[in-house]
Amino acid sequence: MAELDGKIAVITGGASGIGLATAALFIERGAEVVVTGRRARELEEAVARLGAKSHGVAGDVSKLAELDTLYAEVNRKFGRVDILFANAAIAEFAPIGAVFEDHFDRLFDINVKGLFFTVQKALPLMVDGGAIILDSSNASVEGTPAFGVYSAGKAAVRSFARTLTSELKERRIRVNVVSPGATETPIYGKLGLSEREVEELRDYLARRTPLGRIGRPEETAQAVLFLATNGYVAGVDLLVDGGMSSV
Ligand SMILES: NC(=O)c1ccc[n+]([C@@H]2O[C@H](COP(=O)([O-])OP(=O)(O)OC[C@H]3O[C@@H](n4cnc5c(N)ncnc54)[C@H](OP(=O)(O)O)[C@@H]3O)[C@@H](O)[C@H]2O)c1
Repeated sequence: MAELDGKIAVITGGASGIGLATAALFIERGAEVVVTGRRARELEEAVARLGAKSHGVAGDVSKLAELDTLYAEVNRKFGRVDILFANAAIAEFAPIGAVFEDHFDRLFDINVKGLFFTVQKALPLMVDGGAIILDSSNASVEGTPAFGVYSAGKAAVRSFARTLTSELKERRIRVNVVSPGATETPIYGKLGLSEREVEELRDYLARRTPLGRIGRPEETAQAVLFLATNGYVAGVDLLVDGGMSSV
């Protein structure tokens, strides 16, 4: 018997990168997985790749009505959630002088408000003893130039895990954070950089990483599976960053 047999998991931003790798691993280990994202076509393609135990619900985590639709659909199909991976986020970087209100609002709307309400609105469906994993970033503990708003949002995610762990203890719902470091996903193609600039950024990040390379989404997925299944880990921030922020 696989460790996630019969489990229902919801993964926001599950159509690409770390969310998609986690969905594939969860399905391999027996779970039914609901994946979300804003782009319906990408979601359909992901569900086609993931197979019969995956289910797509399109929606934007920063729009509360769309979160209601997501959980109404999960309720209709499954009636409960065992594991929630709040993973959807965007990355945008700007040094302080180039931070405009729309940059700030987009990052906080999706990465902070969207994540918070993804969790709040899941709670009526979450089973007692369930697991919530929040996707932060090692950027939350670094002072990388131009990462100010993104990193502050990710630090807020880490903070939520502390409070939620306390607030949800009566229901034995464990809340943990996974913090990837630089990881090979489509997120780098969305930064508005040329291919050459993305290549230079990857090389720079690999050089800064003690393990000498950037990570693979499957490596973060393994950490998410651990946090989803270990019954005595709560409130931690598990760094999957090749040692970048720990040495
Ligand atoms: N890759 C890295 O180096 C790295 C490092 C540290 C932390 N992380 C974190 O890891 C998580 C996953 O990122 P990734 O690298 O796998 O990037 P990715 O491949 O771009 O995946 C992000 C997913 O989130 C979805 N998404 C974005 N905004 C959304 C919204 N408002 N509502 C619903 N879905 C939304 C995207 O789909 P749509 O655009 O279709 O909505 C996409 O499927 C993020 O929390 C990111 O901050 C990544």
